Amino acid sequence: MPKAVHPERIDGQTVAITGATSGIGFFAAAQPAELGARVLVLGRSESRGHAAVSALPNPRQHEFLPLDLADRTSIASAGDRLGAVPRLDALVLNAGVVAGAFGPGPAHRIGAFGVEEIVGINHLAHAELLRRALPAVRRDAAIASLGRGGESIEELAQRLGFSEASAFRRAFRRWTGQSPGDFR
Ligand SMILES: NC(=O)c1ccc[n+]([C@@H]2O[C@H](COP(=O)([O-])OP(=O)(O)OC[C@H]3O[C@@H](n4cnc5c(N)ncnc54)[C@H](OP(=O)(O)O)[C@@H]3O)[C@@H](O)[C@H]2O)c1
Repeated sequence: MPKAVHPERIDGQTVAITGATSGIGFFAAAQPAELGARVLVLGRSESRGHAAVSALPNPRQHEFLPLDLADRTSIASAGDRLGAVPRLDALVLNAGVVAGAFGPGPAHRIGAFGVEEIVGINHLAHAELLRRALPAVRRDAAIASLGRGGESIEELAQRLGFSEASAFRRAFRRWTGQSPGDFR
């Protein structure tokens, strides 16, 4: 018999999802929303974005952020907005296009990154979005790890991509006003 799953509440957490206006992304957005999290719905269309926000549980606590992964200016602007949010517990890089079986499509057209759209939108655009959002991603990954314990400052700094633990300590003080040791 399948085991019943009772996930913990995640009130107060923020989850950002690209392509949350439909399909797998919308389903992925509904789960944390149901458990109390704030969801940032990223997508191209304002009307589809607002419709998705309205269809989620607790619609008033979510927000639509415009993002067109085929447009580098839009990626930069959405990435910088994500990098500046006061809390970001998870960033789900879900949006994507699929290769059509027939005729010219994203697998053949050259897009904003100078490669086939399917590679640009699905991979390079998301890498650029994540690079811009890194301050918030790293900050909240660090806060979560220090709260859990079990990982040394050196291990944490290395996992988050800092060249040295001292660079991580400086960044953490900039983000939170405290040293990682005091925070722990
Ligand atoms: N369904 C499958 O069987 C399957 C299998 C393997 C992999 N996948 C991958 O899983 C992901 C989700 O699939 P799905 O079936 O849920 O797809 P879907 O229903 O077609 O949804 C795609 C989502 O991506 C967004 N999107 C498309 N182009 C975008 C762009 N240029 N900028 C920003 N957002 C964009 C769409 O948002 P708007 O149109 O509202 O902007 C939509 O929310 C995709 O990456 C897909 O490649 C799916």
